Amino acid sequence: PNPVMSNTQVQTKRITKLCKTKNIVTINGMYPGPVIYAQEDDRIVVKVTNKTPYNITIHWHGVRQKLSCWYDGPSYITQCPIQAGQTFTYRFTLLMQKGTLLWHAHASWLRGTVYGAIVVYPKTGVPYPFKQPFQEHIIILGEYWLRDLTQLEHDVISSGGSPPPANAFTINGRPGPNYNCSINDVHTIDVVLGKTYLLRIINAALNMEHFLAIANHKLTIVEADGEYTKPLTVGQVMLGPGQTINALVTTNQPISRYSISVGPYMSARNVPFQNITSMAYFQYAGSMPNGTPMSTQLPAYNDDLSIKNIMHILKSLNAVHVPRQLDVNLFITIGLNVQKCTLRMPRQNCRGINNGVMAASMNNVSFVRPNISLLEAYYKKISGYYTEDFPSVPGKFYDFVDGAPNSIPNDTSSTTGTRTKVLEYGSNVEIVLQDTGTVTTENHPIHLHGYSFYVVGYGDGNYDPETAVLNLVDPPYLNTIGVPAGGWTVIRFVADNPGVWFMHCHLEVHLSWGLSMVLIVKDGQGDLQTLPHPPANLPRC
Ligand code: C2O
Repeated sequence: PNPVMSNTQVQTKRITKLCKTKNIVTINGMYPGPVIYAQEDDRIVVKVTNKTPYNITIHWHGVRQKLSCWYDGPSYITQCPIQAGQTFTYRFTLLMQKGTLLWHAHASWLRGTVYGAIVVYPKTGVPYPFKQPFQEHIIILGEYWLRDLTQLEHDVISSGGSPPPANAFTINGRPGPNYNCSINDVHTIDVVLGKTYLLRIINAALNMEHFLAIANHKLTIVEADGEYTKPLTVGQVMLGPGQTINALVTTNQPISRYSISVGPYMSARNVPFQNITSMAYFQYAGSMPNGTPMSTQLPAYNDDLSIKNIMHILKSLNAVHVPRQLDVNLFITIGLNVQKCTLRMPRQNCRGINNGVMAASMNNVSFVRPNISLLEAYYKKISGYYTEDFPSVPGKFYDFVDGAPNSIPNDTSSTTGTRTKVLEYGSNVEIVLQDTGTVTTENHPIHLHGYSFYVVGYGDGNYDPETAVLNLVDPPYLNTIGVPAGGWTVIRFVADNPGVWFMHCHLEVHLSWGLSMVLIVKDGQGDLQTLPHPPANLPRC
C-alpha cells in the first residue's frame, strides 16, 4: 500500500458538469479526491499547501487521533484554518484502525468537493473475517452544486433559511443518466459472473442521507464505520453523511447491466430536496455495453421503517467491552428551532420560517464557532473564548398518541454560546441523544471526533431509562450515528483520548445553524502533561 497523498495541493479546477462550467476546490485537481491506501497502524503524513483563496482544513473522518488531537482538522476547534498560500502538515497514526473511512475539508462548505476515501487494510497476513473478495470497489456518494459553496454557506447563515437543494446527487463524482447532460457522466463498475466483490460505500454528501441498492442483487453488510459487523444481508443500505459501510455482493444473476441506484432519505417535513435517483452501472462482462440497465425500486424517501430494519439491527462481529459502570450520563437534545429575529439581526435577514431565523441546537444551545482554535485556547489557557458550562435540560419532550409523538416538544427558544462539557480522563460515558425540535423532527447523523462509540440502543419518542432495552453485548462500534426522527439513541465510550473534540450533526446545513457542541477530555494528570505539544507550524487565525 502507498501511504499517501504526501504532497498535497489544494487548488481550484475548472470542470463541466450538468452542462455548466465552474471552478471547484480540489485536492491535486482531483474530484473526488485521491484515495489514501494504508494498513492498520500505518503512519500518515500529509503536507497540505493551500493554493486557493479560501481558508481550509482537512479532517480524517473516523481516524481516532489517539494522542494526536492537533491533527484532527475541524476549523476553529482543533486548529485555525490553513489560509491562502500557507502549508500545514498532518501527522497521525492509524492506530488499531481498519476498513473504510474518509477524509474531507472541514471549513465552510468546502467538503462539498474536497473529499476522498481512506482504505485501511488489515496487517499483512491478517485475512478479512469473511470470504476473500475477488475485487474491491469504492463507491463514494456526494452532492453537486452549481453555486459557489462558500457563498452558499454564507447565504444560509445570513438569510436564516434553508439552502436550495443540490443540483445533483453523485456517485464517484458522477450524477448518472437521470440528470441533464449526464448520459455519459456515469460511474461503471465492471464485474464478472460468479464472483464476490467488496464494495466500500461512503456517504460524503453535504446535506442528504442516501439509500443505495443494486438491481436484483443483495448486499451483505460486513463492516460499518471501519469496524467489522455480523454479516447482515439486505436489499438496500442507508447512509447518512459521514457514514461508511462495507458490503459484499455476489455476481450470481444473469449476465446484464444493472443499476446501482442512490436516492434520498428525507425524514424532515417541509424541507426542499430533489427526489431524483442518481445511478451508476454494475456491468457484467459479456453484457451489452449500451443496454438499458435493469433498474431497482428504492424505498420511499420517508421510509423510516426500512432503516429500523437495517441499521438498527447491526451488531459488532464479536462480543465487545461496553462500559457498564457509568461515571457520566449526558442527556443531549438535538433540535431544529426558529429563533426570533432580534434587533441585532438586520431585518432583511429574517427570511426563515415565521420571519425568524433557523437555528439548530444541542440542549437548546446553538453553538457559536469561536475565531480561535479551541484546542489552542484550552492548551494555552487563553480565557474568554468558551465556557465549560454546557447545560442540562429536562428529559421529557413529547406527548404521545398511540405510541407516536404528538404534541410539539417543549424546548422552544434556543440561546447561543460556545459552551463545552469537560470530561475526566478515563471516565465511562453514556450519552443519550434525543431528537426534538419545534420546526420538524429529523434523523440526524451525529458524528463524534476522536472516538468510536458503542451504539447500545435506539427507540421512538422520549427516552425512558426504565423501559429502554440496551445491547451491552455486541453493539456496533461507530463514529457517526443516525438518531431517529422524534426518537433517541444511546451511545457509550471510555473517555480515554485527551483533547478537544467536536460532536455535531453531519448535515452541513445543521452544522451552520449550530447543531454541535464540544467535549473537552482532560488528560491523565489533569494538567495537559500527556497531551502532545502543539506542532510548530500550526496555522494562526
Ligand atoms: Cu466528517 Cu466534523 O466531520
